[in-house]
Amino acid sequence: MKENRPISGFSKFSKTQKTDWLIQQLGLDASSADFLADFESKNVAAQKIIEDLSENHLSNFHFPFTVAPNFLVNGQYRVFPFVTEESSVVAALGKAAGFWAKRGGFHVENLGTEKKGQLHFSWKGNPDKLKLHFNELETQLRVDAAPITQKMEKRGGGILSIELKYLPGILPDYYQLDVAFETRDAMGANFINSCLEQFGKSLNHWLSSQADWDAEEREAEIIMAILSNYVPASKVRVWVECPVEKLSENDDPEAACRLAEKFVRAVHISRNDVSRAVTHNKGIFNGVDALALATGNDFRAIEAGGHAFAARNGKYAGLSEAKNENGIFTFSMELSLAVGVVGGVTALHPMARLAMQILENPSATELMQYLAVAGLASNWSAVRALVTTGIQQGHMKMHLSNILNTLNATDEQKAAARLYFEKREVSFSDVEQYLKHDTGR
Ligand code: MEV
Repeated sequence: MKENRPISGFSKFSKTQKTDWLIQQLGLDASSADFLADFESKNVAAQKIIEDLSENHLSNFHFPFTVAPNFLVNGQYRVFPFVTEESSVVAALGKAAGFWAKRGGFHVENLGTEKKGQLHFSWKGNPDKLKLHFNELETQLRVDAAPITQKMEKRGGGILSIELKYLPGILPDYYQLDVAFETRDAMGANFINSCLEQFGKSLNHWLSSQADWDAEEREAEIIMAILSNYVPASKVRVWVECPVEKLSENDDPEAACRLAEKFVRAVHISRNDVSRAVTHNKGIFNGVDALALATGNDFRAIEAGGHAFAARNGKYAGLSEAKNENGIFTFSMELSLAVGVVGGVTALHPMARLAMQILENPSATELMQYLAVAGLASNWSAVRALVTTGIQQGHMKMHLSNILNTLNATDEQKAAARLYFEKREVSFSDVEQYLKHDTGR
């Protein structure tokens, strides 16, 4: 019987105790313990790394680790590793890669790598007084943060600028130290947060040393110190282009023109209608997230920043653009994102390390490029399907495997069903009917 009260000390339980508690509390099948154990890696060292990534670890949760070859990026062929649970995503990415490889591939350029963080604080004093002394304060902030920034500076990074912002429109007496950072190949979250927390301490230390200031002025209330996942100055531009008539796969210039024209209209809609924009961008992040996850990068940070970037002009819009000009079709995107290739899960997780090897060990700026390529590729396939066959055809074909597995079909039945549904619409009930009648289940 489930007890309706909190449990204390759960995180201190051993794995077996945690599992036993769940089985007992929630009436789970006793075999759940073996089931959970089955999903652990036989590689003891790897398993230990996974376990140590999170508190209350019970087992590993598997998603497919996949690859798609043929990504031609700035003239170099790359194999992209992906992790996603959505059946059609990797097939769509692979198709887009192959399609554009025959048309010059993806072109990408980095447009900056600056990241930001803020120290948020309240200070009851004359804002002009703080501004007047800001140079002095800034020097002190930099001196105090030197032990943290030293190593990063050796790698060519560090603190780029510190700006004092007085923002009474948000809260009375509210200020920010708005700080720009360069973190080179690291995502830099720990570095940025450490600097900002040090700034909080240094600010109060500096204020308290202003002997001739009023008591109230000699102290600030630190609200919080944290990096921002909004990184509009850390971004890449990616594009594909070809003569409009080359958009057809079977030398049909009319079909190519129709596709180009409808594609441009679909992208235009995403840039002007929020309902469509969100789904359009979701299609972009299908690719971005799958590559980010495979390389152990923080895909929530990338998504959050990407969506904010999509709203940078005051209105949420689709991230990509498409045009037909002078007979040339161009499909492009600017994407802001912050990623790391050293430290963090990327360097730790054995599968992420392999993913990085598959990518030929890119720098952070190269990985930014690949993520944007994956986003544009995924967007291309989705919008192309939407304006031609519709999305369900591809989706349900890939989904057929999931349905067959859900219905416990045998290998023989799966093979027969795949053949049967090759030219038919796939729906759960149709597959169920097919298994019942056509294979006599
Ligand atoms: C599904 O995961 C993604 C799409 O909805 C994206 C889009 O509509 O552009 C197909």
